[in-house]
Amino acid sequence: MTDSRRKDRWATRYGLIMAMAGNAVGLGNFLRFPGKAAPYGGAFMVPYLLALVLLGIPLMWMEWTIGRHGGGFGHGSTPGMMHRIWRNPISKYIGIFGILLPAMVGIYYIYIESWALGYAWETIVGSYWGKTDYQQMADTFTAYLGTGTTSTFSFSPKAYFFFIIAFALNMIILSRGIAKGIEVVAAYAMPLLLVLGIVLAVRVLTLPPVEGRTIADGLAQIWRIDDWSVLKRTDVWIAATGQIFFSLSVGLGMVHSYASYLQKHEDITLSGLTACSTNEFVEVILGGTIAIPAAVLFFGVAETRGIVAQGPFAIAFHALPVIFQQMPAGHFFGAAWFILLFLAGLTSSMAMFTPLLLFLEDELQLTRKKASLFITVGAFLLMQPVVLFLHRGVLDEIDYWMGDLGLVIFAASEAVIFAWVYGLAKGWEEMHHGADLQVPRVFYYIMKYITPTYAVALLAWYFYDGFWGKLTMKGASPEVQPYLWLARGMILAVTIFLVWGVWYAWRTHPKFFEEEKSA
Ligand code: PHE
Repeated sequence: MTDSRRKDRWATRYGLIMAMAGNAVGLGNFLRFPGKAAPYGGAFMVPYLLALVLLGIPLMWMEWTIGRHGGGFGHGSTPGMMHRIWRNPISKYIGIFGILLPAMVGIYYIYIESWALGYAWETIVGSYWGKTDYQQMADTFTAYLGTGTTSTFSFSPKAYFFFIIAFALNMIILSRGIAKGIEVVAAYAMPLLLVLGIVLAVRVLTLPPVEGRTIADGLAQIWRIDDWSVLKRTDVWIAATGQIFFSLSVGLGMVHSYASYLQKHEDITLSGLTACSTNEFVEVILGGTIAIPAAVLFFGVAETRGIVAQGPFAIAFHALPVIFQQMPAGHFFGAAWFILLFLAGLTSSMAMFTPLLLFLEDELQLTRKKASLFITVGAFLLMQPVVLFLHRGVLDEIDYWMGDLGLVIFAASEAVIFAWVYGLAKGWEEMHHGADLQVPRVFYYIMKYITPTYAVALLAWYFYDGFWGKLTMKGASPEVQPYLWLARGMILAVTIFLVWGVWYAWRTHPKFFEEEKSA
């Protein structure tokens, strides 16, 4: 294409790796991982590490490869990329997932990220200081979000204010492009995040005993395998495998878009592995050391399990603020925790609208300016129901279809298409073009047989378990059902727009999609 965006490139390899690692390292590492692991104890780590090797890392390599390959033809989003690896009219429509999923996740993810920003502020000024028991902090959070209401809107001026700031920040970064926006932010935010994480982990590890409990008891909750029979249960396998997908940001289309800025001679294997390793260090070592061990130390095992069962936000926004208040320099450590969360969120959310932006630019031939404006207005409108009907479950509904089931659907599809339709022999060669690391041959077989099977099996399980209940809104009260329909309507509307967009792009400039090589 003649557009300017193809001139945009990752300025440095360091920047690329930080951006890719930042894309993966997110709220999931600090909120979701501890919550998934804690109920099972150390046994969780067995399926978790297996899924990392058999599914996570192979999918990461596949997505980098699909992205760089498609980028060479001028495609920055998955419809064009899928079309390039599978010349079937359907492939570009499958590629819609890679725009729809991250954008729809983005509209609620940015809101959650803004809570961390808001709480960083509240911690610095000490507005909740003095509310030293758990229930008081839970109520404070409800008040912050404005969800404790029976009225129509869950509106809270404070939460809305921080939402606007986080949203504006995301849109500004997005409109500045890869090298000047995303890469610059990641290059500073990621090292800062690592430092904050290490400071907090060291602080937690050196905490003195509380009521006879030591920090070792807390660590045991994540690391010690007391009960191997847990591994006989399906739910631990599903939880661990799902967490790998979520954590690495695979199956979303975001990795593809970042990788489309690579040139053919640039390495995939080593960089991709480095991004995965960074994510795992942050998730398992930092994420695993901070929240749960600290909670176990202060509240004990039984109570911590109860807190975790209340959902992913209870530890971070209710329990930890109680703990910070009992620590010397609690304002400092508390602020470090929420800033860490915010940065983790930001470096992920700034990737979430990239596929849509590039789709509008490359395939629909909008200028960068028009495309960013379109996304800013569209995302802002779609975020209103998420914010204002938070207490009616709009956020959770979108999260299930997009951030949970959706990414497994897309990952399973692309794994099958890459390994079997495009063909792994070709894929392996493409992946090793310019490679700095020769991947051991055993991964050839893993990627050919195990990764697609594993992903499809997980998908089958999702349909078997939970899908029907979700679809029929089992357990949802009649008052909230219209709001769940609203959430589905939003998803549907965006889907229809994208189907139209793909159809229109392929119809209006078919040549672009047939050209042999543009870059
Ligand atoms: N991997 C990121 C995280 O852990 C981003 C992400 C968000 C991935 C939502 C999937 C779904 O938060």
